[in-house]
Amino acid sequence: MSRNNFFSVLKKEVDRIDQAKTSKRFEKIITGFTKEKSPKAIIGKEKYQVFNSNDYLGLRHNPLLKKAERQVSEIFGTGPGAVRFISGSLKIHRDLEKALAKFHKRDDAMVFSSSFAANLAVLYCLIAGQNKDSLVDNNVIVISDALNHRSIIDGIRVANLPKEQRTIFRHMDPAHLEEVLENNKKNYKRALVVTDGIFSMLGEYQKLKEIRAVVDKYAKEYENGVLLVVDDAHGVGIAGKTGRGVEEIEDVKADVLIGTFGKAFGADGGYVVANQTIIDYLRESAATYIYSNSVPPGTAGAALKAIELLDKSVGKKLLENSREKVIYFKKQMKTAGYLFAVDSSHPIQPVLIGDPIKTSDLVKKLFKKNIIVTNISFPVVPKGRDEIRVQISAVHTKGDIDQLVKAFAEEKNINSL
Ligand SMILES: Cc1ncc(COP(=O)(O)O)c(C=O)c1O
Repeated sequence: MSRNNFFSVLKKEVDRIDQAKTSKRFEKIITGFTKEKSPKAIIGKEKYQVFNSNDYLGLRHNPLLKKAERQVSEIFGTGPGAVRFISGSLKIHRDLEKALAKFHKRDDAMVFSSSFAANLAVLYCLIAGQNKDSLVDNNVIVISDALNHRSIIDGIRVANLPKEQRTIFRHMDPAHLEEVLENNKKNYKRALVVTDGIFSMLGEYQKLKEIRAVVDKYAKEYENGVLLVVDDAHGVGIAGKTGRGVEEIEDVKADVLIGTFGKAFGADGGYVVANQTIIDYLRESAATYIYSNSVPPGTAGAALKAIELLDKSVGKKLLENSREKVIYFKKQMKTAGYLFAVDSSHPIQPVLIGDPIKTSDLVKKLFKKNIIVTNISFPVVPKGRDEIRVQISAVHTKGDIDQLVKAFAEEKNINSL
């Protein structure tokens, strides 16, 4: 096949995606933000209320984070210069890792360029050794929640396990997880259970306490135990009284916890926290840590500031504001006659619409009213459960939320005429 033939295949594939109406490349380009406490995005000549950002505490515009970012990049420069084991291990990276270990009450932490990169490497390393001399074998059954994030799915995929060693348990169903562990206990030396902490489409909290209990029950049934890995990208920094995530809500700990700075912490980059043995092993083997740059120093500085703020009065107030605003939004929407796909206290609020065309039309209508939200349809959610995902930030004002609810309510009235 000539190169041109291949290009024509690529073109047809893009056409196929466009025809299926699943294209993602027509991105809305934000050219700036207003200077308000609740910043609006500027697109073209208009200002838009952003109700689909993961910046749950509004920290990405926080002056203290910006200042920390500037100060740290003054010292270390704008990029890490090399990967960690060459000359890219800067004090700010270690300070951040120490702060993370303390924040999550673990022995140690590792910072990655993103939590996608963390998941790829951490899962691969926990599933299989990284070279032919490795003492870590892949005599393992991997059991993943059916609705886990793409980065978890890909982390399992790259390990290239035989199909029978990769399985799922029904979404948020600890009893099914137990069944899978029971059925496989004679077949494998160890098991790896992997789940999102909070599911990003609906804002559901995983039943971590029950999952932990099942994992512990089966620990002795497998020669090398059962390990629980949780990716709490949407939980860390926001969920729980002090923002420790789903672990705080459920009052249990994962063996390996993965998080991101790119959402509630308002910066960027991913991380893993665990006991010293696991972290030492990962530092020796995780490819996206060893062979790929860490976050830029300024970003690490902003992330460190976010962690520090969370335990101070500023952070506590933001967490409180977030909770209040979520309650306020839910109440107003219910009064306006809307239902939610799931009853969650997380800033991710899935407004149930139930029809793909109505959902995408409503999103377009809200955009015309200068409000940005996200439509979510099959296959991401089951047919008939189409939703508009609204994400509330601690810095949204009640006025912002009123404007959003008013826009929803106007469309409801039109539709029910
Ligand atoms: C559960 C989960 N894990 C990982 C990621 C990736 O985060 P990052 O941007 O840090 O790679 C996301 C982002 O959407 C996520 O929802």
